[in-house]
Amino acid sequence: MLASRPVAPLTGGITVPGDKSISHRALMFAGLAVGETRITGLLEGEDVLRTAAAMRALGVEIRRDGADWLVAGRGIGGLTPPEDVLDMGNSGTAARLLCGILASHDFCAVMTGDASLRKRPMRRVIEPLRACGADFTARPGGLLPLTIVGARDALPITYTLPVASAQVKSAILLAGLNARGLTEVEEPAPTRDHSENMLRHFGAALTVSQHGGGRIIRLTGQPELRAANVVVPGDPSSAAFPLVAALLVPGSQLSINGVGLNPLRTGLFETLREMGADLTVRNFRTQGGESVGDVMVDATELTAVDVPPERAPSMIDEYPVLAVACALARGTSRLRGLSELRVKESDRLAATGALLRAGGVRVEIEGDDLIIHGMTRPPGGGLVETHMDHRLAMSALVLGQVTAAPMRIDDSSFIDTSFPGFVPLMRRLGAAIESP
Ligand code: S3P
Repeated sequence: MLASRPVAPLTGGITVPGDKSISHRALMFAGLAVGETRITGLLEGEDVLRTAAAMRALGVEIRRDGADWLVAGRGIGGLTPPEDVLDMGNSGTAARLLCGILASHDFCAVMTGDASLRKRPMRRVIEPLRACGADFTARPGGLLPLTIVGARDALPITYTLPVASAQVKSAILLAGLNARGLTEVEEPAPTRDHSENMLRHFGAALTVSQHGGGRIIRLTGQPELRAANVVVPGDPSSAAFPLVAALLVPGSQLSINGVGLNPLRTGLFETLREMGADLTVRNFRTQGGESVGDVMVDATELTAVDVPPERAPSMIDEYPVLAVACALARGTSRLRGLSELRVKESDRLAATGALLRAGGVRVEIEGDDLIIHGMTRPPGGGLVETHMDHRLAMSALVLGQVTAAPMRIDDSSFIDTSFPGFVPLMRRLGAAIESP
């Protein structure tokens, strides 16, 4: 696929597909609740469809009803053994959260994923979940495929996360749902709290207290989760791509309606504002425990930024596209403390560096920091290797909107994992993206 400078500014009002994190959780928590949950705005991307398929394989009835999805929950501890291997595709969130669910279900399951997911670390969930009484057998290095024998009587655990990871936190809380007693997770820094919000929404007893720079979450096990309808907001991590494109293409004006604005997800917006972006929010509202608003953006000349490592959890998936914005900013940007990027769908730290270099941008990686020397018009003309990583593919197509010569990507198929319809939507706005 080939991206080149559009002939006119990008303009329009759009919505983006549902939030990926919330969509996975809606299917999982609804499957563990009693009664029927209606989900509106579910992301129908490959990653979430893997979660739906896995929950079905575990006995949950899930069906579409028009544009909505209906989930008939089986109650906590009520899932049944799968007859076949659970294939989580490209999705780390689906794999890790499901490990939590399976750890406190008394049966055996085997889980695998695609070539990207089979390289990603699972020890971060295996270790704490073993303490619940579950048995895991993984490939050397703690890699998928994985056999999980869930505990008959799972123990509630107290665990301090070694890395700030919402996936690990959520896996422990999901296991704790079917353990008698109090499960306690301490996170070193606040991470996205969609699991906590949704647990409350479904009626679980949960407390959150500030501790040091982080938080302690306490969940009382074996609550009765009651079906509760969920409206999924637009994914801010998906909104990031058209938003950065509109900021960079001169004269552009874009509004993205109904975007999730959970404060633990909005680090990119804060950073872009620091860079001088003209970015405003209208119709700020709360919907099912989550903040939502319409984000308006006008093209702006950006200045370089220094992003502190503490901000990483609130924008962890946005670094590749932020790096594209930095490539066009006046001055040298430094994005600090990106070690977690090395274990995403690809090694996103190295791959983001390579993406910008393919566009002719000067980049350095120093330890876990990414340093980008901005320029007015990067030459472009390169081919980006996307390494089965949707966010790299979309970031490269955004970069191609502002380089002198077009940018090419080797593979666009993974875009559908999180943002089905990305290319047609960008084209409707006026972006120049061609499939040769
Ligand atoms: C997610 C958490 C983040 C993020 C991922 C989705 C979630 O991963 O990168 O895309 O839904 O909990 P980590 O928790 O591993 O940082």
